[in-house]
Amino acid sequence: MTKPPLPPRLALGKLATLRKMAEDVLGFLHWLHENHGDIVRFKLPGRRRLAVFSRELAHEVLVEKTDVLRILHPRTACDVVPSAGLVRMPAGEEHGRLRELIVSAATPERVAFQKHVAAAEANRLVDELPDGTVDLPRTMERLAWNGVTTSLLGRGPELDPAIVRPSLKAVKLTFMLSVLPGFQLLRRLPLPHDLKARRAIRPLDEATREAIGAARASAEARPELICHLVQATEREESGWRFANDREIRDEVYTMLFAALDGPVQILTLAQFYLRDRPEVRERMEAEVDQVVGDRPLQGDDLGRLPFTHAVAMEVLRLHPPAPLLVARRAEEDCTLGGYLVPKGTSVDVVLHVMQRDPESWGDGGAFRPERWFEGPGCPVDRFVPFSFGPKECRGADLATNLIVATLAAVAGRRRLEPVERDLPTEPGLGVGGFRGAIPATVTLR
Ligand code: HEM
Repeated sequence: MTKPPLPPRLALGKLATLRKMAEDVLGFLHWLHENHGDIVRFKLPGRRRLAVFSRELAHEVLVEKTDVLRILHPRTACDVVPSAGLVRMPAGEEHGRLRELIVSAATPERVAFQKHVAAAEANRLVDELPDGTVDLPRTMERLAWNGVTTSLLGRGPELDPAIVRPSLKAVKLTFMLSVLPGFQLLRRLPLPHDLKARRAIRPLDEATREAIGAARASAEARPELICHLVQATEREESGWRFANDREIRDEVYTMLFAALDGPVQILTLAQFYLRDRPEVRERMEAEVDQVVGDRPLQGDDLGRLPFTHAVAMEVLRLHPPAPLLVARRAEEDCTLGGYLVPKGTSVDVVLHVMQRDPESWGDGGAFRPERWFEGPGCPVDRFVPFSFGPKECRGADLATNLIVATLAAVAGRRRLEPVERDLPTEPGLGVGGFRGAIPATVTLR
């Protein structure tokens, strides 16, 4: 039998490709798509890679071929989180059992609790906004931290989010550098940064230990997720077992790490678009005035704000916080789109290109929340910021609630106007994946 052909190849040496990628990774990926189509192979030192840009190919990778294309998480810094856990496990039977435990946490009571927390924290953010200037990522980090730790642990707002910054930075650095040859070996050394991360996070260790104890002592199902993790496994209502409390803590920590940057990034960037499209901002403010009026925002309001929701979706479309998914590696020869993918190839699914592709979206690079009301003009199946398939995000609702609640609470009472003219597009290791502070002026509406 004849072998299928290899996919189109980028005719550039390994080092030249690495240089081009390092200069502007998203620019490089868009350029690859424009010049070579929906599937392209290229080489980096030490690794063969393949990038896919269409929904159909993404479906093959994320749903149909998960047994052979396995997620390739670099060993993270941190050994602050040593257990494999949901995020790092490849899709399969073991992952399925842990995923089932997390999915079964979404009872109507817990869903309502998360909406309530999102609204309460968004109101608190607006109450505490000073007159003058704020740093957008730091302001949104506090909101995301409070919302996520309360939903996961039932406490946390009393702690400073600075305690997880070194761990998050270590995780981001690991991902950024993981394309370099020899990197896996280097990451086994305990670098000073890792030790700092481990020390800094101790107050959260204490809070988590207490939350596990409280869940064990409670006869009732409390709304925080950790309570479900403890009770459902210890009462044998789940096919999953944690070996010890450390593994429960690790599961919560990985979620926490997965949860913080996305909302911070979206809420920060949204303020630039709203400043530059005043008619969009006014339409959103009018919607909030009509639904919420003068009272504080409530959890139930979140489902009654379609335009505010569209603003959130439009920023998530233009700036998916995971612009390319964690690489999958071919464990053996397989095919994608009829092309041969040799064993050992790393496969990148590029959401950033898919969600802007002019063939699907027309004016895909434009910020136009109105498109979400245009039916077939808005190809929602190409909008997958939370991925899809067995490894799709388990925090999409929580993240969406936090984002919509914050947009609405701010729109009801304040305006946040970034001082800089241009969007911060250079990725960094700071809060929200930015390089540093992003000042914005706060004005009363
Ligand atoms: C705007 C915010 C967020 C975005 C855009 C986002 C996006 C994603 C994406 C794209 C993945 C799949 C990664 C891959 O397979 O390569 C993922 C996985 C995951 N996310 Fe999120 N996420 C967000 C917020 C959250 C929050 C708030 C939580 C939890 C509280 C969370 C928990 C997870 C978990 C547990 C996984 C792993 C699922 C699995 O492997 O089965 N995420 N997320």
